[in-house]
Amino acid sequence: MFGLVNKGLEDMICSQYGEEIWEKIKSKAEVEIEAFISMDSYPDDITYRLVDAASVVMAMPATDILEAFGRYWLLFTATEGFGSLMEMAGDNLPEFLQNLDNLHARVGLSFPELQPPSFLCSHLEAESLKLHYYSERPGLTPMVVGMLKGLGEKFDTDVDIQLTNSKDRGNDHQELSISHKLKCPFKPLFNINNN
Ligand code: HEM
Repeated sequence: MFGLVNKGLEDMICSQYGEEIWEKIKSKAEVEIEAFISMDSYPDDITYRLVDAASVVMAMPATDILEAFGRYWLLFTATEGFGSLMEMAGDNLPEFLQNLDNLHARVGLSFPELQPPSFLCSHLEAESLKLHYYSERPGLTPMVVGMLKGLGEKFDTDVDIQLTNSKDRGNDHQELSISHKLKCPFKPLFNINNN
């Protein structure tokens, strides 16, 4: 994957746990790269090794690390110059999700040979939809879940996510059922039950 992804992981771990832990993770993963370059492409194996090593060093399930990384990714890409791209992708969660392939296509203008995942929305109702996630890469669904939770926060929306079909069950992609409800924008001025 592009160095941007590994740099994001490094940034998350260094900011939350410190550089020493990151160095331990790199050494456990047997990754000898001093500094990742955003625009350079690295074997996917490096990213997987780093996540596995982080899981051992921090005694956390790899799925939790991937989910945390998914949330962090939204903040990180904004600091790396992709904030306006994110802003343009939609004003609410369903609109944004329907634009994910466009978003990655635009990212591909800066990163030739990007191999992004693909997302498709179906069963679009007022407060629910199905998100179909296609990727050649295994095991990254928790990262998608983290991203969806982060997007919920971005759009002030309560989100509930259920994995309803998967490659494990013989499907050719991951299928997530998403319920979303805009949080009430009006806060009560006073509590009528206040006695
Ligand atoms: C402006 C924001 C974003 C940027 C710059 C970006 C960029 C990237 C890049 C560079 C990769 C690595 C692909 C490769 O190296 O071939 C990637 C992978 C990925 N992106 Fe994005 N992305 C963004 C937003 C999102 C969002 C909002 C989602 C989903 C909700 C998403 C889902 C993913 C997933 C799941 C992967 C892992 C690779 C895979 O599943 O095959 N991305 N993205």
